[in-house]
Amino acid sequence: MSNILCIGAGYVGGPTMAMIAKNCPEHSVTVVDINQERIERWNSNDLPIFEPGLLEVVQQTRGKNLFFHTDIAGAIAEADIIFVSVNTPTKKFGEGAGKAADMQYWEKTSRDILQNSRKPEVIVVEKSTLPVRTAEAMARILESGNSSTRFSVVSNPEFLAEGTAIQDLANPDRVLIGGEENENGHKAAKTVAELYAHWVPRERILLTSVWSSELSKLVANAMLAQRISSVNSISALCERTEADITEVSRAIGMDTRIGAKFLQASVGFGGSCFRKDILHLSYLCEYYGLPEVADYWASVVRINEWQTDRFFQNILHELFNTLAGKTITMLGFAFKQDTGDTRDSPAIPLCEKLVGENARVRIHDPKALENARIELKNLKGDVSFVEDVYEAADGAHALALVTQWDEYRELDYEKIHQAMAEPAFIFDGRNHLDHDKLYEIGFNVFPLGKSPLKHI
Ligand code: UDX
Ligand code: UDX
Repeated sequence: MSNILCIGAGYVGGPTMAMIAKNCPEHSVTVVDINQERIERWNSNDLPIFEPGLLEVVQQTRGKNLFFHTDIAGAIAEADIIFVSVNTPTKKFGEGAGKAADMQYWEKTSRDILQNSRKPEVIVVEKSTLPVRTAEAMARILESGNSSTRFSVVSNPEFLAEGTAIQDLANPDRVLIGGEENENGHKAAKTVAELYAHWVPRERILLTSVWSSELSKLVANAMLAQRISSVNSISALCERTEADITEVSRAIGMDTRIGAKFLQASVGFGGSCFRKDILHLSYLCEYYGLPEVADYWASVVRINEWQTDRFFQNILHELFNTLAGKTITMLGFAFKQDTGDTRDSPAIPLCEKLVGENARVRIHDPKALENARIELKNLKGDVSFVEDVYEAADGAHALALVTQWDEYRELDYEKIHQAMAEPAFIFDGRNHLDHDKLYEIGFNVFPLGKSPLKHI
């Protein structure tokens, strides 16, 4: 039996540890965080993150072999295996500002581990997405000083996607474990592999070098995001021609070499990882003297920003080039469906641009209003957050769908149309709705990457 600890009770640490606790009942799993309120919510039935199926897993294990608290030093002292899942946002200051990862929390955590570990052998598992070669830096910090603990650092990036975290954890495509190239490192990697082997078939557990593991995480996110930017760039071409992006995505996705996933045109990708990881990959390439490679990856982010701006420009243009005093209702604010997470959501720049035109923005989202308020707290303008979607659309000049929540397909659009200003517009930033039906009801419909359906 081992004491497993996770530092950082966020979107990654919380669900991952709940899944380990569920599948490894002989081990004790503790999750700590500097944020007292977050921990209190993990100890309640009002979890700090919305994730389908998560509460059930937490309820099965909490108080038995899953514990949440804030005594970081005390928990480190008892731990045999420590997962580090603190955030590594894009740096906002100094060298590499806007591109490199901000490593201050991560370094502080490394030093906390060095200072407080008491067990003779401790495995530190890097779960946060970090710059390549960070594990080496962490090992150097842990070897400094005269701790009697022998540390091994293992890289084990997490590939779960929000909204499907529990499924992704229960049935991962692969688990990647990078260990140091020595006997101690191999042993540590195997110990971590044994945890996952409780529920993941062994052929899906990949053992690699630490650096390959770290880089694979950045590249997986970059490649996924690149597919979206590729499709989004083609959506613009489709709008200028007779082609339909849904048909194009379907046709190319049936080529098994390309595959069908991540070809859905959108108002732009968001989330805490894609932008941050690509900018970081690009920064690494620059640092290692590869400006062409850096620029290639940076263009994925540029296209993404351009796509959100294009969506906004379309709204402005179609509403007769003036939004001043007009009400625009945003359907959704989360960066994708089935999550309350708003980090890097395309809804944020969209809202800023609308407010910049003096539009009145009403925001609806079934799960993300609390985070939307926090994201926009410094934005000056006429912005309101409305819990009832019909109230949000009442008197609006246009609806802009940002997040593909299932419930937006089920709304009574006849009723909404009657309550809106005429002519009524709908801009579907996810091609999520039944456009023909909306057109029949009387809307002027603007999908992405296909011809608009206009009455005027
Ligand atoms: C984080 C990283 O952002 C991401 O790069 C990595 O891939 C996985 O871990 P996430 O779980 O989504 O992702 O972050 P977040 O929800 O912000 O959680 C991080 C938690 O760490 C927060 O609750 C924060 O309070 C906590 N934290 C941060 C600490 O406990 N100690 C610190 O020093 C800093
Ligand atoms: C991503 C990776 O998928 C995951 O492996 C990694 O661990 C963290 O980053 P996440 O950001 O939670 O996960 O969600 P994801 O489903 O990848 O979606 C990211 C963004 O891309 C969302 O804004 C989503 O709406 C958008 N997207 C996705 C598209 O615009 N089109 C698509 O076809 C797919």
